[in-house]
Amino acid sequence: MVSIDLKGKKAFIAGIGDDQGYGWAIAKTLAEAGAEILIGTWTPLVKIFTTSWSTGKFDESRKLSNGKLMEYTKLYALDASYDRPEDVPQEIKENKRYIEAQGYTISEVAEAVAKDFGKIDILVHALANGPEVKKPLLETSRAGYLAALSASSYSFVSLLAHFGPIIQKGGSTVSLTYMASEKAVPGYGGGMSSAKAALESDTRTLAWEAGRKWGVRVNVISAGPLRSRAAKAIGFIDNMIEYSKANAPLAKELEAEEVGKAAAFLLSPLASAITGTTVYVDNGLHAMGVAVDSPAFKGEA
Ligand SMILES: NC(=O)c1ccc[n+]([C@@H]2O[C@H](COP(=O)([O-])OP(=O)(O)OC[C@H]3O[C@@H](n4cnc5c(N)ncnc54)[C@H](O)[C@@H]3O)[C@@H](O)[C@H]2O)c1
Repeated sequence: MVSIDLKGKKAFIAGIGDDQGYGWAIAKTLAEAGAEILIGTWTPLVKIFTTSWSTGKFDESRKLSNGKLMEYTKLYALDASYDRPEDVPQEIKENKRYIEAQGYTISEVAEAVAKDFGKIDILVHALANGPEVKKPLLETSRAGYLAALSASSYSFVSLLAHFGPIIQKGGSTVSLTYMASEKAVPGYGGGMSSAKAALESDTRTLAWEAGRKWGVRVNVISAGPLRSRAAKAIGFIDNMIEYSKANAPLAKELEAEEVGKAAAFLLSPLASAITGTTVYVDNGLHAMGVAVDSPAFKGEA
């Protein structure tokens, strides 16, 4: 029998802020497969996440198929826009949602994970941020564009650079991208489409570098639309879900769990020869060249 068995493996998932997003779904599937879960949560969300967890708000979503609740071994505050303590601007250090937090830059988190656990096997990047995402690219400022690239693309380069030395040979990484990297999606602005294009290109280059340096695999999942906290903030997620149902080869809503399962496969030894690849988990929408619900087709498709 072929099954995904991750018993004895340690996974660090960066970008879990609640139980609605892809990071959560991936963590849950990895836990189902037996992996030990370490979480990186954006520093300003740590308090609300840990309070929600301890007061049982996530209990329903934590339920695994064996009836037990998903657990995590440790949660680290993480701000993936900063590599070292000296990179953090004074106003961020003094911000009330950061002031009590310690060691949340990427290098510090990687050092802490190494100290706490030695090596890990799996690294997941499920985070993105574009402060000007609602602005068309033509109206995006230089600062907004660079912030989107910093938080959403370079954050993966840096995470891999810092975690690579503590990922076991044969280990694997996954990040998440969106089709707007390849095809224009009006409304996905602020340089976010550019950031996703960089993430996909970097996947190929990093697969080569990390493969040769540490024997680690690097893949990216191009996911379809999901009503996550981040997507709701962009504002047109319901339209994208409707559009996908109307036009994708598989006319159904995408479940976060479907991305979780594809990630678990890519992160498992079953995918031992797969690296440098963009895997589409989007009900097939990327394969379409036309919108079949266009009035131009008058219902003929
Ligand atoms: N939701 C969708 O429709 C969709 C589609 C394709 C790809 N994706 C991608 O999936 C990934 C996960 O997003 P999601 O939609 O599940 O939403 P989400 O809100 O669950 O996850 C995004 C996370 O990124 C975190 N984050 C933002 N800036 C950060 C920083 N500087 N440091 C650390 N963490 C930071 C947020 O706190 C949040 O927890 C993202 O890369 C997103 O672009 C989402």
